[in-house]
Amino acid sequence: MSDFDAPDMNPLADLDEWEAFLKERYPVAREESTFRDYGDNVRPAVREFYRLNHRFQTLDFVLAKEREYLGLDHRQMGVWEAMEFLNTLVDESDPDTELSQIEHLMQTSEAIRRDGHPRWFILTGLIHDLGKILCLFGEPQWAVVGDTFPVGCRYSDKVVFPEFFQDNPDSRAPGLQTESGIYQAGGGLDQAHMSWGHDEYLYHVVKPYLPAPALAMIRYHSFYAAHREGAYTHLMNDADRDRMEWVRRFNPYDLYSKGHEPPNVAALRPYYEDLIAEYFPAKLAW
Ligand SMILES: [Fe+2]
Ligand SMILES: [Fe+2]
Repeated sequence: MSDFDAPDMNPLADLDEWEAFLKERYPVAREESTFRDYGDNVRPAVREFYRLNHRFQTLDFVLAKEREYLGLDHRQMGVWEAMEFLNTLVDESDPDTELSQIEHLMQTSEAIRRDGHPRWFILTGLIHDLGKILCLFGEPQWAVVGDTFPVGCRYSDKVVFPEFFQDNPDSRAPGLQTESGIYQAGGGLDQAHMSWGHDEYLYHVVKPYLPAPALAMIRYHSFYAAHREGAYTHLMNDADRDRMEWVRRFNPYDLYSKGHEPPNVAALRPYYEDLIAEYFPAKLAW
């Protein structure tokens, strides 16, 4: 297997490399002509990650993970507690390099706050990656991070490394590779099962508590084929087009807030504890 899921490895250790890859792949002013070059220059670990991701994210796999996790019966935790939980393994492994997960979350939310956005938007920045605790529940990286895409219909060639989909058994399943597959054209993204990962999971955890734009940002922030490349419009309805606008507004804060000073987590904690309490109960079902 790849180094992404070697059993003795800290499952979160590579997430920093992950963020670096994203930044490289989506520079602020991307040259259209060089976009496809990343296929040759990309780090081998990232290629290997997508080889696994595209091969194993079948419709059946996604349905099984939805059954396993969307009952939200794994743990009861407050939001701050979940942030600290997500931080544990990173802190143990390599505290001196790169940012911890908490620092990435707070840099994102602080950048949103600096720009004067509403409180729910700041909170969305703070929590957007908490679904990565799936790593701590034992899920391999390829089932937690990475770009997402709908399963159960034809793969767009706008998804990164589309050539790896040929290893996915769904690519030969009758009915799953028509343009809309098992879905209704124009029927909306709500009907679509997205490849399993931290976006979809967190969306279900926080769904009762946040406004629709926040939920869109959380659920689709890794759906680059749609919000960056404009693919999958045939599945969308008008509400989805609005949702993609919100995701596009959120995305730069996720990618480019790094590089500022690491946030002073202890000093900022009271502000964020108040913000969390404004929207969430003391414990959430995970
Ligand atoms: Fe994310
Ligand atoms: Fe993020």
